[in-house]
Amino acid sequence: MTAGTGNGEKLRFGIVGCGGIGPTHAGALGQIADAELVAVADVVAERAGALANKHGVARVYGDHAALLADPDVDAVCICTPSGMHADQAVEALRAGKHVVVEKPMDVSLAACDRLIAAEDETGRTLAIISQHRFDAATVLVKEAVEQGKLGRIVLADASVKWWRTQGYYDSGDWRGTWRWDGGGALMNQGVHTVDLLQWLAGGVSSLWAQTRTAAHERIEVEDIAVAALTFANGAVGTLTATTAAYEGFPVRIDIYGTEGTAILEGDRLKTLKLKNGEEYRSEEAAAHALSVASGGTASVREEAAGRSTAADPGAVWGDAHRAQLEDFIRAVRTGAKPLIDGRAGRKPLEIITGVYESARTGQPVTLGK
Ligand SMILES: NC(=O)c1ccc[n+]([C@@H]2O[C@H](COP(=O)([O-])OP(=O)(O)OC[C@H]3O[C@@H](n4cnc5c(N)ncnc54)[C@H](O)[C@@H]3O)[C@@H](O)[C@H]2O)c1
Repeated sequence: MTAGTGNGEKLRFGIVGCGGIGPTHAGALGQIADAELVAVADVVAERAGALANKHGVARVYGDHAALLADPDVDAVCICTPSGMHADQAVEALRAGKHVVVEKPMDVSLAACDRLIAAEDETGRTLAIISQHRFDAATVLVKEAVEQGKLGRIVLADASVKWWRTQGYYDSGDWRGTWRWDGGGALMNQGVHTVDLLQWLAGGVSSLWAQTRTAAHERIEVEDIAVAALTFANGAVGTLTATTAAYEGFPVRIDIYGTEGTAILEGDRLKTLKLKNGEEYRSEEAAAHALSVASGGTASVREEAAGRSTAADPGAVWGDAHRAQLEDFIRAVRTGAKPLIDGRAGRKPLEIITGVYESARTGQPVTLGK
């Protein structure tokens, strides 16, 4: 069975996993003219039923396999616990579906590699969610780096100082386990920021790290991770991720170059300041300047309303899922790769699993071996 690209018709989506993040995909798909949500699946029938009712979806399945057998589904969003992602996504690709996988891609590099092999073998479109690459502020800093505005990057720091209650970890059997969560504050909450850091500042070549389980009980994984990083381009930096920072603060990424500094806070541009006197404190001002410089059309995202994920796991940080799903649909329609395909989705996993290895052995770890 092979799903089509829905040529001339809307791309028909199914959502696998209707818990915390599945409804965000449903909401985002509802805002995209070229997409239609036609099926949902969850092993907890009430969750699938509730999402189906809310969006007027007729096909409600009891697990991922049943949804994947539906020939009228062209594309699926995998929104299940992290350690299920690769196996379910491989099954979906082999069933002929195009696939969007929630972050992290999976919990081990071996699982990521299985998924990349299936992406190559089937030729179907695979995208891994890292929605903050689509935030206007992130795009602007990326453009500034690529235009050489910051000069040579010498120092790059990222910090995710969030707060999660014990109740959060107790709320699902899979949370806080190595098998299904794959790690703690760094793997679950920090993966977004690790991805942005390596996308903006360049790949990490080696690191040395420590982790702790300091402020929560009944979890196998860390609630604090700190690492010293060396980037492939010679820059150095630090990475901190925690769910023990009461009561949660905005994520921050600082990029320092020989010609200037860019700082992101939450999904906003805090500073873009250059030695040549240029300075932008908002996406709007920077977008205009960079777009004039590049002859391009940097777009400015409307400010997202909503709660903060710094302390509230139910909040969704920003509204960029829609932008990433639009990028995925473009890729399906044109045959081009989406911005974050399997190989791109694996990159933050290499850093995160490297942090865990270093913390376990007490030794520095070289990446990209
Ligand atoms: N991009 C983001 O901002 C973001 C935010 C939150 C969560 N996530 C990611 O989304 C994933 C899910 O997280 P969550 O918080 O929604 O978890 P959750 O536990 O609330 O939801 C997962 C759902 O998957 C269902 N499920 C399990 N096995 C299934 C199967 N075989 N078939 C169908 N359904 C099945 C569960 O019953 C549950 O309802 C995680 O990987 C997490 O890292 C991403």
